[in-house]
Amino acid sequence: MNCTKRFLALFGLLALAACSMPSGSASKVSAGADPEIEAILRRMTVREKIGQMTQLNLDVVCEGEVYNLVEPHHIDSAKLHKAIVDYHVGSILNCGGHAYPREQWLQIIGTIQRFAVTKTTHKIPVLYGIDAIHGANYVMGSTLFPQPLGQAAAFDRALVERGAEITAYETRAVGIPWNFSPVLDVARNPLWSRVFETYGEEPLVCAELGAAAIRGYQDNSDSSRVAACMKHFLGYSAARTGKDRTPAYIPNNVLREIYLPSFVKAIENRALTVMINSGEINGQPVHASKEILTDLLRNELRFEGIAVTDWEDIIKLQLNHRVAATLKEATYMAISAGIDMCMVPNDYNFSDLLYELVQEGRITEQRLNESVRRILMVKKKMGLFNDDLVPSIQEYPLFGSATFTKTAQEAAEKSITLLENRKATLPLNINQRVFVTGPAANSMVMLNGAWTRTWQGVDPQWDNAAMNTIQEAMAKLSSNVTFMEGCGISEWKDASAALSMAQSADVIVACMGEWPSTEKPGDIDDLNLEAAQISYVEELLKLGKPVVLVLVENRPRLVNTIADRCAAVIMAYQPGDFGGDALANILYGKVCPSGRLPLTYPRFNHSLLTYDHKYTETLDQKFGNNAYLPQWTFGHGLTYANVQYSNLKITPGINQQGDYYEVSVDVTNPSNYTVHESTLLFVRDLYATTTPHARKLKAFVKNTLAPQSKITVYMKIDRGDLKFVDYHGNHVWEGGEFEFMIENLKQNITIP
Ligand code: BGC
Repeated sequence: MNCTKRFLALFGLLALAACSMPSGSASKVSAGADPEIEAILRRMTVREKIGQMTQLNLDVVCEGEVYNLVEPHHIDSAKLHKAIVDYHVGSILNCGGHAYPREQWLQIIGTIQRFAVTKTTHKIPVLYGIDAIHGANYVMGSTLFPQPLGQAAAFDRALVERGAEITAYETRAVGIPWNFSPVLDVARNPLWSRVFETYGEEPLVCAELGAAAIRGYQDNSDSSRVAACMKHFLGYSAARTGKDRTPAYIPNNVLREIYLPSFVKAIENRALTVMINSGEINGQPVHASKEILTDLLRNELRFEGIAVTDWEDIIKLQLNHRVAATLKEATYMAISAGIDMCMVPNDYNFSDLLYELVQEGRITEQRLNESVRRILMVKKKMGLFNDDLVPSIQEYPLFGSATFTKTAQEAAEKSITLLENRKATLPLNINQRVFVTGPAANSMVMLNGAWTRTWQGVDPQWDNAAMNTIQEAMAKLSSNVTFMEGCGISEWKDASAALSMAQSADVIVACMGEWPSTEKPGDIDDLNLEAAQISYVEELLKLGKPVVLVLVENRPRLVNTIADRCAAVIMAYQPGDFGGDALANILYGKVCPSGRLPLTYPRFNHSLLTYDHKYTETLDQKFGNNAYLPQWTFGHGLTYANVQYSNLKITPGINQQGDYYEVSVDVTNPSNYTVHESTLLFVRDLYATTTPHARKLKAFVKNTLAPQSKITVYMKIDRGDLKFVDYHGNHVWEGGEFEFMIENLKQNITIP
């Protein structure tokens, strides 16, 4: 990393000062410590160190009240002075409630950084953080991708990495160097309001795609890299009720087998920061858990970056979790557990209380140093000590460019998943009269989901008017498209008029789903799709025309009463700004669908099992009880191409790492479509001393098949990949018989 003139000048002064310090202080510096950072650290006061550990909401330094800022938003210099100069605050986050154009962001970030580098003793820039979940979603005009769940459906590491690279570029274009993404939580409970932010239910997919996102965010040049943030360590998605931030009960072996691998992989891929789970596991809030934050994260996983709390989570140790009677005790708990930075976010209590704790000797300055060292290191790695802290508007010429939007559309097209296609209803013919209806048919808000220009993403005033909704995109491809909404999310809207319009159509495309939401506002009691939508589709079905059901939703809402009677069903997830065009291309056969479900689509409210359930949860042969009987299983996805698999082979080999198995299979595309085929390898461990899973995904690859082509796909797995986590939480190897499965092909192998 380049050291700039400003930083060198600063370091020069500090180095001189360091020479006059007692020699003992220098010897305390750990091996591998960065001398420049150590030099700053030695000069910092306790107050300054605590400032670095403090993260404030942008609202706190803007004109107006927190959550009620004066429009247009402006920095309030007096408030900023208090934060940066009086409290030495080292980090700011968020967007004041909504997205800004680039110019406004540059003004905001520029003002903050100018204050930090001109008015403070050590001239340490602020580490600004934001949630850029599916593109730089808080910057107007940025490229919006499908939400992560949709991206996962493409099973395409390179695509996720490229999307993250573009997001990093467009985030850095406004001077923001820290992205609170990716979400590495594993979506095991479909009720959870943040399922759409995950890469689905399988730990391997979450780990692989999470790592791809981290590489895309971080492995760029200084000017287009952002620090990734692994979220939310650990077990956040496992809430028993499925409601956000409610208790999880996770046995150690399940924690290690299901929830940990994505974080392990992210750390291997050098993720620079982590955000902590706001919830509690087995009665212990994670923010107060030394076992999770220090023993596991630091000592076992060797994570060296910043651990930041989630929103108000130290406050919640007192007010919600009730493990601390006072905020001061809560602060003590979180810092002792291993927190580096507190997302306070709206006051200075954390700073004041932590200062008191240090004065009282309960928290040592040494402890502060550990955290501040990590924080300064991330700032340095992000190039914040360089001169060009805030770019000019002329820089980043590719922002929002056609090159970027092409990738977003490609991602949407590769994610959309065809679940049913009876009697080859799809693709449609442009001469067919198509009636498009439903709450998602003409809504950009629904295509984009939460974290789109605002937190919940539900205000259409932020829509990009240049983008096409589903019905607009379809009407661009065919002049035989008519539209009427007919039904909202939870009530019919002029349904009789819509039904009579539907009567004169050849095909009905019913675009149903869920109003965007995330976190607490997205809590639900019932996974069923809203009754009004179900009954509306029932009415459409009564017309006797083929109904194509398009689902645009945060999580898989149950459709068991209608799905079997619809001629075709498509899962669109929340495909982003280009979702309308992508869907239209798929509906009209300009693009062959290729997405596969990254999670189980359940059929029943009380049977929410994942695909990798235990053998005892398979359908009972004798009594026929429902166990795992989903609407559609993990990995399911149809194409228009009739892709064929044949010739599955397993070839054992040995290399320096030990035994491995090369699995090959022939894939044929007999059609005239180009197909982006995801090949999934499942393995079934027939017997093991801890009950094995009925099957487990062990590898996946993505290939493009030209029309009328055949390829051989190779995958390699190590013997270690066939280990399992035993009852005691250890990864163990047991030889025996394994069944390898790709699509309809199976082959057994006995491994001693
Ligand atoms: C969410 C985090 C997010 C943070 C900052 C929290 O409420 O849980 O995922 O990064 O807010 O916006």
